[in-house]
Amino acid sequence: MTLEEKAGQLLQLNITTIFTDGQLDTAKLAEMVGVYKVGSFLNAINDQAQPHTVVADVIRKIQEVSLRELHIPCIYGLDEIHGSTYVSDGVLFPQEINLAATFNREHAAAMGRAIAYETRSALVPWVFSPVMDLGRDPRWPRMWESWGEDSYLQEQMAVAEVLAMQGPDPNHIDGEHVGVSIKHYMAYGAPWSGKDRTPAYLSPSDLREKYFRPFKSCIQAGALNMMINSASINGVPMHANKTLLTGWVKEELNWDGMMVTDWADIDNLYTREHVATDKKDALAMGINAGIDMVMDPYDPETAVQIRELVQEGRIPMARLDDAVRRILRMKVRLGLFNQPVWDNSGYAKTGGEEFRAQALAAALESEVLLKNEGGILPLRKGTRILVTGPNAHSMRTLNGGWSYTWQGVRADDFAKEYNTILEAVRNRFGEDCVTYATGVVYDDVEWEKDHAVGIDRAVAAAAGADVILACIGENSYCETPGNTNDLNLSENQRQLVRALAATGKPVILVLNEGRPRILGDIEPLAKAVVDIMLPGNHGADALAMLLSGDANFSGKLPFTYPRHINALHNYDYKVSENVATMGGLYNYDAVMDVQWPFGHGLSYTEFAYSGLKVSQESFQAGDTLSFEVTVTNKGQVAGQESVLLYSSDLVASLIPDVKRLRQFTKVSLAPGESTVVRLEVPAKELAFVGADGKWRLEAGDFRIAVGSESLMIRCTQTKVWDSPNID
Ligand code: BGC
Repeated sequence: MTLEEKAGQLLQLNITTIFTDGQLDTAKLAEMVGVYKVGSFLNAINDQAQPHTVVADVIRKIQEVSLRELHIPCIYGLDEIHGSTYVSDGVLFPQEINLAATFNREHAAAMGRAIAYETRSALVPWVFSPVMDLGRDPRWPRMWESWGEDSYLQEQMAVAEVLAMQGPDPNHIDGEHVGVSIKHYMAYGAPWSGKDRTPAYLSPSDLREKYFRPFKSCIQAGALNMMINSASINGVPMHANKTLLTGWVKEELNWDGMMVTDWADIDNLYTREHVATDKKDALAMGINAGIDMVMDPYDPETAVQIRELVQEGRIPMARLDDAVRRILRMKVRLGLFNQPVWDNSGYAKTGGEEFRAQALAAALESEVLLKNEGGILPLRKGTRILVTGPNAHSMRTLNGGWSYTWQGVRADDFAKEYNTILEAVRNRFGEDCVTYATGVVYDDVEWEKDHAVGIDRAVAAAAGADVILACIGENSYCETPGNTNDLNLSENQRQLVRALAATGKPVILVLNEGRPRILGDIEPLAKAVVDIMLPGNHGADALAMLLSGDANFSGKLPFTYPRHINALHNYDYKVSENVATMGGLYNYDAVMDVQWPFGHGLSYTEFAYSGLKVSQESFQAGDTLSFEVTVTNKGQVAGQESVLLYSSDLVASLIPDVKRLRQFTKVSLAPGESTVVRLEVPAKELAFVGADGKWRLEAGDFRIAVGSESLMIRCTQTKVWDSPNID
């Protein structure tokens, strides 16, 4: 390959660079590929989802020109985030935060298989998914894109999805699978300010132990590509962090995959972060740190600058060759050299019943019953229901961002055939039983005037109802537009709920939101609360089934729901952190003052735990601990229960986390039925990264808790690992 051809492989442009007036511009395509030798494009045609056949037609033309000009196929990438974001005839699942609430790896796998299949049907072989930033801060506007706040849950769900998307052999991806981009490496979800793309400051232990782990496991599961976090850690922008890019990933894990920047993030090294003087300085910095492909959406001159940098000796030829090899290797692994395009006439499952049923099943297990005072739910058939609130009649809010468009703003046009909450409740309870009043709306510039009218109407409508379903939360958003200065639920929605509660009619809150918005004074006014998060196109049907008792709740929170604005905690806090929000200073036994804890979720039945046992009470690092616990359905209806096992290291050389999730599984039980659940935990899973940066499993006592049961086990010998990774 010539130097120009090599440099061009490193560049990924936005599809807008080859479009004019909404149409593929063949002259521009010829220029980008023929002159600049560009090897990759991304994004939705005309910024919105298109039928798979329309996407495929564009890809065919790009491949035709790429093969003619370069004899190398192009690699096209799409953000397929919770199903087929940009394939309009595909299926949208619940968002990742919902799938995490299922605590059921099979739902992550099902979504992965559907995404891969439908994306392939559009002739696209690469998706920028899954998102696996730990969503540990609800101020961060991308929390819902990830699998919640726990590192182990994040890892388990992401690995399941990666394996499902890439299929059995990552070296030979077949026609029903795609290459993944695990993103955004790493700690994007931990901004100090809570705002998108802003600096994180993290302890080296947490970085290695919690943030790195899900990425490491996905790489070990064969992930072909990773996208880099746009922000910085401890003052070093990730795009310039050679230790974390080349050192931790490419060298330590011996990974031969490919690293792509996020959107224009090389530019950000000089325009925003001020660690580089100009574009060329930034390019050299990033590529020498380990970046292989530069997502530089609008500037083909980037390819020229990369070539110049190599000629000037500022990027070694060996580094360029390594990056090119990684890109070409990925193209080979995706089968693009054998089949740059393929016959896509047979993808009959795209948008079909199978994937729709899976999306509904996932939604059913993902919606979380947080409160059910006096067993007000399920609602009997014949109950007269007032459906109200800004989320009551909106496909946009059910789906959130990355739904047909980036911000999800056009979901009501695209998803007409699916049901809003109002429509689904009407379908299930009958037209005659359901009335509707908007209450308040989002984005209302005159809300001061209008909301009072809306609230009055809703209050008037409540007179004829037995129960009020107040559908509240957030409108759709994504990335920086979702930044917020106030995590409290908006004041107009709180006013609506207060006014409705004052009618004396029981209020059920349906929370439709990407992150926990603080409910302040309105939670006590509600008899029941259901957090449906962002359940996708089938989410309202699932909700109606759950509200009516035709299905049972089994979701559990994959994050901590805060009660106070200045007390944003995670479940794996340090005991000494607790005093900040606790009743009683230095009360080590006090319970964290949160609205609802991680793992909370009610059911229409009751599960009892008994007889927790362990295979061995004392252990060493090489052992695998096997736990058994009996779970019994003590209620009158069938249900599913996620069984979560936690460990607590009682004394350690670094302040231990109060508890950590180590294993989970899900069981289905008929009324009265019992089952023995077995959970295995390799003892080395109980290790932590110490102050010296080394993994340590220290001798001493550990408490293991499953449901209401707990027992003690003892590590008899301290082990310190010399290697940076212990598996
Ligand atoms: C987002 C990424 C996304 C990329 C390409 C960026 O703004 O941070 O998650 O994959 O755009 O669309």
